[in-house]
Amino acid sequence: MDPNLENEKNRVPEGTIVVIFGASGDLARRKLMPAFYHLSREGLLPEKLRIIGLGRRIQDTDEFRDHMMRRVIQYCSHKMERRFWGPIADNMFSMKADYQEDETFLKLKDFIAETEAEWGQRSNRLFYFSTSPSHFDLLATKIAQFGLHEETGTAWSRIIVEKPFGLDLESADRLNEILTQYYSESQIFRIDHFLGKEAVQNILIFRMSNLLFQPVWNREYIDHIQLTIAETIGVEGRVDFFEQTGAIRDMIQSHALQILAFLAMEHPSRLDPEEIRDEKVILFKSVRKIEENDVLDYTVRGQYSEGVVNSELVPGYLDEEGVPPDSMVETYTAIKLFIDNFRWRGVPFYIRTGKRMPTRKTEILIQLKQLDVETMPTLLQKQPPIPNTIRIEIQPRAGVELQIGWKPPGLLTDVEPTSLTIGGKAMLKEPKAYERLLLDAMRGDSTLFIRYDEIREMWKIVDPIIRAWKKENERLKQKGLKLPSYPAGTQGPKEANHFIERDGRKWTYLEPSR
Ligand code: BG6
Repeated sequence: MDPNLENEKNRVPEGTIVVIFGASGDLARRKLMPAFYHLSREGLLPEKLRIIGLGRRIQDTDEFRDHMMRRVIQYCSHKMERRFWGPIADNMFSMKADYQEDETFLKLKDFIAETEAEWGQRSNRLFYFSTSPSHFDLLATKIAQFGLHEETGTAWSRIIVEKPFGLDLESADRLNEILTQYYSESQIFRIDHFLGKEAVQNILIFRMSNLLFQPVWNREYIDHIQLTIAETIGVEGRVDFFEQTGAIRDMIQSHALQILAFLAMEHPSRLDPEEIRDEKVILFKSVRKIEENDVLDYTVRGQYSEGVVNSELVPGYLDEEGVPPDSMVETYTAIKLFIDNFRWRGVPFYIRTGKRMPTRKTEILIQLKQLDVETMPTLLQKQPPIPNTIRIEIQPRAGVELQIGWKPPGLLTDVEPTSLTIGGKAMLKEPKAYERLLLDAMRGDSTLFIRYDEIREMWKIVDPIIRAWKKENERLKQKGLKLPSYPAGTQGPKEANHFIERDGRKWTYLEPSR
């Protein structure tokens, strides 16, 4: 196909208005604006485009444009060029907003009407909910009350709902009920931006396309699996949000469980979005739900204290502006899950995530079982080889590393671990997750978005943990105790080491980034 035509097909349709609720927040500056800038560089944005940012503390339009430009320069992997930024900046506006007030939505309605009059056409509307999750139901309702959700002819109206979708199963059900009361399923895009990462999509392809790994991908050969999502950043001014979510809702209920699904689900018969989602739901259903009374044996929490990350001294969580001094919100969590099905019964999946860790890294370690030493020549039995591992790195680089036993050069007959590495730098040019997902939502492709039944099953896994922790918090508070802590820039609370070492295993070491 002619590349120009292909590009034309991929472009966002002419006459699109993007409304970002929560535009003064971290997500808009760190992810959404750089994503729009990338789309502009790729020539995928239409001429008739407007972006309007709403927020409680938002600056006026000039300041907003200027602020966003500085953030794009800071967070973008490409050099800032006026010819790509200009068309976005000139079409970007801001509006101070109180979401409780009808006036906010009246003003928004006027803005849309004026834009449509200028364009001489009915607009496509994308409403992005990047506020605190407690506003999602209100936003969905108000948009609908003011008729902004209506679609006519080819003009569409869609909402992107950030995670966490609800704060537990019950609130998620309520939210979904409100959404589906006003919007059809094709208008709702429940986002988990990890699904937009090429390396996450690749997990399934890697599993399905290599005979080498298929026979060992089960409890017969795998000792355990570790998933690490480590970040060097702290809460980045998102205290209000984080105090509601903690790491369990922010990272585990969404990103970590989605990665787990790609790792452990059965192969779908077709790479069809619905079939993939069906398999994910089946997998989530087979994750053993931890009994509330056992939660403390299967989980660890921690909060970072003052420490050094990337050679910089950073404050502890309790000293971050706005954090209540008695906060029991976890910035680190480790959990152990089991999947009760034929493939995985008995294989522990250790998942950990933390803010202010020594490095930014998302990776999966698949540790194979120890070879039966009895079957080896006696010489090798004295020093049994280290078990094979498959390490899948999702970020910052995407790649796979296999650890195998190898005879080192020399006169001694010995075996030592050696790595085979695939991928790495070349993958750095992958499209950024938000760029891909924003484009998909504006083209109406929901393949990489989450279906509600997945969300329900994910809450069922996480809810007992949240409930047990809540009770435990009361107990700790009564005794004047706090959550375990870890100095920023370290491997996490020492309790997390005991947690895995109790099972005779060890976390992979996170090399501090320089
Ligand atoms: C978001 C979380 O969903 O993912 C943040 O709310 C986290 O707390 C972020 O920092 C990590 O995403 P990425 O793409 O930067 O690894």
